[in-house]
Amino acid sequence: MPEFTIDADIRRASTLPANFYTDEQFFNMSRERIFTLSWHLVGTQDEVRNLKPVTLLEDFLDEPLLLVENKGAIKCFSNVCTHRGKILVDEPCLAGLIRCGYHGRRFSLDGKFVSMPEFEGVENFPSVADDLPQIPLERWGRFLFSSISPAAPLNEFLGPVAASIDINEYSDARLVSNKLYSIDAHWALYCENYLEGFHIPFVHHSLNKVVDYGTYSTDLYRYSSVQTGYEPDGTLAGTYLFIFPNLMFNFYPWGISVNIVRPVSSSSSVIEYFTYVSDDSKFGSGAGADLERVELEDEAVVESVQHGIRSRFYDRGRYSPSKEKGTHHFHRLIAEFLG
Ligand code: FES
Ligand SMILES: [Fe+2]
Repeated sequence: MPEFTIDADIRRASTLPANFYTDEQFFNMSRERIFTLSWHLVGTQDEVRNLKPVTLLEDFLDEPLLLVENKGAIKCFSNVCTHRGKILVDEPCLAGLIRCGYHGRRFSLDGKFVSMPEFEGVENFPSVADDLPQIPLERWGRFLFSSISPAAPLNEFLGPVAASIDINEYSDARLVSNKLYSIDAHWALYCENYLEGFHIPFVHHSLNKVVDYGTYSTDLYRYSSVQTGYEPDGTLAGTYLFIFPNLMFNFYPWGISVNIVRPVSSSSSVIEYFTYVSDDSKFGSGAGADLERVELEDEAVVESVQHGIRSRFYDRGRYSPSKEKGTHHFHRLIAEFLG
């Protein structure tokens, strides 16, 4: 059992030990103990017309799911045939029934077994085990989240901030880009860098001019945290919502940037960026103006940490009580989930 105890008092606490990031065993343990119990973004409501296959956290959980829109309601099912396991739906499509392309088993849009050729005489058939398992699906505004076995409802993962952000304001925001960045670092190193503004004056010289570092604040909730930054003239620069373990919703005056940190191996990750613009007149100014540059600066520093933590002379560090609350909270959640 891992001994990942992080003291609740940040003034006494030390960071996670280096072997959490370097040992393959803890990378695999995170898959089942953290990621299967948390919520993952699987798309937006407007993208789902009838049948849409999605993969829950590609390269890591790799769970094939099927979003089914029927008369305006969206449900989520396993996308694996209950006969011999073929993937049922490969491409988004319109259909009144789901039919397996291997031996013709059919399911209703409610995931119920409908029919199967050549099964006369099979005992206790069909049973509920022949229906498609339904998977938890919840919605925040237009955003759809799914989880294999959620530790708590989505609302608790979002925290009270969900009520203070009018997410429906972004219902019509335009998706202007969807980019992938590959990074040679453990997923948690990327997240913990995101969770502190401490490094802004050292790493992001251009961002430091548009965000007033002195007013940067962090609020902690059960499974989430929110960082708020202001411009030197006092206007809101950005609200940065982190949802444990790997989701980031960044609210800017022009719209939202959503980032998903997808673990690939203990030393590599993919960061997926979705950019939604709700106010074109403000796009390209303020704290979210140069996301690409800020991203590359973050990647360089996180990759340097990935190299550094492998040192025989490094194990754990200490936290700044005023500037690293978010990182401390994140490490506490990892320790809690790994048990
Ligand atoms: S695997 Fe689907 S019908 Fe056989
Ligand atoms: Fe950064």
